[in-house]
Amino acid sequence: MAKHKVTFLPAGVTVEVDPSEFPLGSHGAPGSLLDVALANAVHVEHACGGAGACGTCHVIVQAGAENLSEPTDDELDRVELAPGNTPDSRLACTAVVGGDVTVRIPEWNRNAAPEGQ
Ligand code: FES
Repeated sequence: MAKHKVTFLPAGVTVEVDPSEFPLGSHGAPGSLLDVALANAVHVEHACGGAGACGTCHVIVQAGAENLSEPTDDELDRVELAPGNTPDSRLACTAVVGGDVTVRIPEWNRNAAPEGQ
C-alpha cells in the first residue's frame, strides 16, 4: 500500500506512514493525525484520550484536507468549541490520514505540558 507523508507545523516534522500498519498506537482513531503524531514523538494535547470528546487535539489543516476522512457531525460540533478554531480545523483524534497532509498545531496546544510530565 502507498505510504503517506504527514507534516506537522510549525516544527516542520514530516513522517511517512504506511496505512497497513495502522493503528500506530492506542490514542485516537487508527491512522488518525493523533495516532500518527504520538507515534512519532510529536506532541498534540489530547485530554480525553482521543475519544473525540474534548476538542483539545484541534489542529488546522494547511494542505491535503481532501486526504483526511470526512468529519462527522459530532466532530464538527466539537471542533467548533475549540479555542482558535478555523474553517480548516479538525480534531486530530478523528481525522484519519488517507494521503499526504500538512497540519498546523495551534500554539496553545503545543505549549501544553505533555501528559505525565
Ligand atoms: Fe479529545 Fe481529540 S483528544 S477530542
